[in-house]
Amino acid sequence: MPDNDKHKEAKECYPDIPQKTEGFFLKGSNSLDWGIKNRLARIFNPESGRTVMLAIDHGYFQGPTRGLERCDLNILPLVPYADTLMLTRGILRSIVPPSTSKSIVLRVSGGTSILKELSNEDIAVDIEDSIRLNACAMAVQVFVGGEHERESIINMTRMVDMGTRYGIPTLAVTAVGKDMARDARYFRLATRICAELGAHYIKTYYVAEGFETVTASCPVPIVMAGGKKIPELEALTMAYRAIQEGAAGVDMGRNIFQSEYPKAMIQAVNAVVHQNETPERAFDLYNTLKNDS
Ligand code: R5P
Repeated sequence: MPDNDKHKEAKECYPDIPQKTEGFFLKGSNSLDWGIKNRLARIFNPESGRTVMLAIDHGYFQGPTRGLERCDLNILPLVPYADTLMLTRGILRSIVPPSTSKSIVLRVSGGTSILKELSNEDIAVDIEDSIRLNACAMAVQVFVGGEHERESIINMTRMVDMGTRYGIPTLAVTAVGKDMARDARYFRLATRICAELGAHYIKTYYVAEGFETVTASCPVPIVMAGGKKIPELEALTMAYRAIQEGAAGVDMGRNIFQSEYPKAMIQAVNAVVHQNETPERAFDLYNTLKNDS
């Protein structure tokens, strides 16, 4: 081979530039398989490392929740401002256009209603349907301390096993019984149990005292659940604090879709999550967008 060709060949292989081995951007997720990481990277924005999940799965146990009566009219206009939609397969198939490029987190536990004991859930979606629906994660309710604690934890571990087989992450949703204390001690316990047993990320409520101990002692990402509707500035303040205290995003429902101006609210939440916007500035943004609409 002429010398020129040899040089050209060597140049094209860039032997002096070592191939990069990049770490994965999400906490505790570096040793996961490619498919799971790729799906997580569709839920969490790799640039900010955070997510705005729009939770609209409430109907799976409480029927047509206020604001969700007509998901086609009330929710679809919000989708462009979310990173992810968290919902049931029923609403996904009947309402959400398959042309959407948004990632889907599918509610896969269920079997109870508000008329009965809520912790008595089972796995309510076959893993094949999650694959068929191109889900980026499967959400399972975990009732630590609840009447059916054991069954709900085992539901979660079964989803982790099945999801790992097919590269789909599991989101553990910590559910708190009506009479149980919602404090940092409880959430450290509940989130850590879910993480130890394999959940890829965990949704939990915010607590004003010690939330940073919940995120710090949980080895995988935590997203903050919104909870009952509160005034917009308070909801933005809660989201801001959760993010600044270590949450990797929010999974909010009622505080967005029950807002008087849901489109303005989701954009304000987005600014808090992805741009570290303060609650006051995000509230200004909400008011500006609200007036626009
Ligand atoms: C409730 O069990 C559902 O998982 C909801 O997705 C969750 O409660 C988040 O919605 P919200 O922000 O309305 O509490």
